[in-house]
Amino acid sequence: MTAEETAEETAEETAQVSAQGRAVGTPSPRVDGRAKVTGSAAYAYDRPVDDPVYAHPLQATIARGRVIAIDTVAAAGVDGVLAVVTHRDAARLADTEDAELSVLQSDAVAFRGQFIGVVLGETPEIARYAAGLVRVEYEEEPHDTELRADRTDLYRPERVNEGFATDTDEGDVDAAMEAAAVTVDQIYTTPMEHNNPMEPHTTVAVWDPGGGFLGDARLSLFDSTQSVHAVRSTLARVFGLRPDQVRVMSPYVGGGFGSKGMPHAHNVLAVLGARAVPGRPVKLALTRHQMFSLAGHRTPTIQRVRLGADEGGRLTAVAHEAVEHTSRIKEYAEQTAAGTRMMYAAPNRRTAHRLAALDVPVPSWMRAPGEAPGFFGLEVAMDELAVACGLDPVELRVRNEPEVDPESGRPWSGRHLVRCLREGAVRFGWEGRPAVPGTRREGRELVGLGVASSTYPYYRIPGSRAVVAYDGRGRYTVRIGAADIGTGAWTVLTQIAADALGCPLGAVSVEIGDSDLPRATVAGGSSGTASWGSTIVAACRAFRHAYGEDPPRGAEAGGEMPRDPDAKRFSMHSFGAQFAEVRVDADTGEIRVPRMLGVFSVGRVINPRTARSQFIGGMTMGLSMALHERSVLDHRTGHVINHDFAEYHIATSADVMDVDAVWLDEEDVHAGPLGARGIGEIGIVGAPAAIANAVHNATGIRVRDLPITPDLLLH
Ligand code: MOS
Repeated sequence: MTAEETAEETAEETAQVSAQGRAVGTPSPRVDGRAKVTGSAAYAYDRPVDDPVYAHPLQATIARGRVIAIDTVAAAGVDGVLAVVTHRDAARLADTEDAELSVLQSDAVAFRGQFIGVVLGETPEIARYAAGLVRVEYEEEPHDTELRADRTDLYRPERVNEGFATDTDEGDVDAAMEAAAVTVDQIYTTPMEHNNPMEPHTTVAVWDPGGGFLGDARLSLFDSTQSVHAVRSTLARVFGLRPDQVRVMSPYVGGGFGSKGMPHAHNVLAVLGARAVPGRPVKLALTRHQMFSLAGHRTPTIQRVRLGADEGGRLTAVAHEAVEHTSRIKEYAEQTAAGTRMMYAAPNRRTAHRLAALDVPVPSWMRAPGEAPGFFGLEVAMDELAVACGLDPVELRVRNEPEVDPESGRPWSGRHLVRCLREGAVRFGWEGRPAVPGTRREGRELVGLGVASSTYPYYRIPGSRAVVAYDGRGRYTVRIGAADIGTGAWTVLTQIAADALGCPLGAVSVEIGDSDLPRATVAGGSSGTASWGSTIVAACRAFRHAYGEDPPRGAEAGGEMPRDPDAKRFSMHSFGAQFAEVRVDADTGEIRVPRMLGVFSVGRVINPRTARSQFIGGMTMGLSMALHERSVLDHRTGHVINHDFAEYHIATSADVMDVDAVWLDEEDVHAGPLGARGIGEIGIVGAPAAIANAVHNATGIRVRDLPITPDLLLH
């Protein structure tokens, strides 16, 4: 079949799903809701296991150097301690290519907090107590954890995250900036931030040595992860096992935001521990403190944004150049400026990413990596341009709406940003915005409104498979190794399956979270529903095709994710408009955000209830990013000093007032059989800029560095 034929068939099938669909589009309550609210949902660490052993990690207290002596005698002698594993005696790994996962393989220390050992005890208290008795001597080397834009060792990575090109250059930005009637040229910064899902990173690992040969061994894990199959394949490789020797289970996950999108060092540490006590399950739960060194983080960014425009605000130049950090041992290059490439029309465009490799823990994904920090720079700069042109910021964005994707030249599958902006302006009461910043005062409060655009790419990741089975008594089971990390995936996949089978919602059970189920791609990149959902549609169609409306008992059929020819022909992104009202106490600088509104264009919404939670959750995380979150690295020690909830402030219910999200009623006919693009990450994108822009409107003070704290507003 040619790509065109497939595309036509896909469009036809989309229409069929909509016509028959009864469950899709309805606000079904979560299928896992009752288990969660009654406490019967067993998360990884809760799994009842026989005879557990508890692991407590040992962590480096220097940022760079070597362990020259490690005295474990006292710890090993504690009653109830089963083993103390260090680099001297840990099992050798088969693959040490990934330095983050090369745990306890040498005496080298690459960042403060790195694992240098693990104590295994009969109780968590024993393990923790014994860990405190281990004496370590180091040979310290000078370390460097400070990101600055003027570093001479910045380098250009080969690609950035998600495979984007590192740099792009179109036309002549410098000449266009010279010639522009109006320009903005500013530096924006975002801090290091840490994912803090409510459920910490936990693993229960059981090593069954079999007959003693590695080829007979079996490894089982209960793991809090966004991808059981990624954990399985990675651990199999690292430990030199066949994937079929490894099983990873994870039905309930208490948040991830990217930090559980790939295995981290704690997974390897748990297995190394399990190998030291064969047959006994080893339980490892990172403490909140430990998560600040070992579960990934968002890189800090220093972004130079240059905009050039004519008097009417039409952009002639857009340049976005980002400086970020990575760890010295493993490169993670965030795509901070990638979203800028497709956002606005301008003949002269440049984007660039430069990295400093520092003695810091390994950075990784955090909700909307790239877009979340990048759109702080771009969208505050757009607000500055609106002020410089004397234009309304909504109007400025409308004037710069590109007909086609400026980067690829491809048509949009559905870009409705202008509708989002206009709809939001009406709903939010934008016309009542103070025209002159810093002029509306109500009592002690300065009041302002701000807007920012939002976008997130449509990712549909090939590689998933689903199987449908029938029990002969009216019940279907749909199996796919997907992950619901709190998003509602379990529920929406059930809805999708029910419609694709043409049966009531209650007749379908979806099984997820187990690597013994058919393979599934990661719950990441806002891709889950589109990827697994279209896979389930394919499996359900194969089932109906094979068995018709009256399947026999034991009937079973599988399907792979259908190809996505339109993804190469269209530029496919979700869009949104973010609005915020802020009130700043003129005496104390305290910032309150009484109202936020997001208007999103995401294709078809499968479940309005869970979708709304995704949007307002993302926006709330954006509020948190705007006003609170910052990991403070003490460069003298390489240590994140505010590594707990007392000092790393995340927006709580007291900070969050009226956060509302709505969406356009639409279907993206190019976005696979569901017509749905992603929704998990777009809510955070643009939200910090909308708040910063509202702060400017309220106070006349332009804040270009996150988070926006009261001291910055006291002049
Ligand atoms: Mo998300 S940061 O793609 O898991």
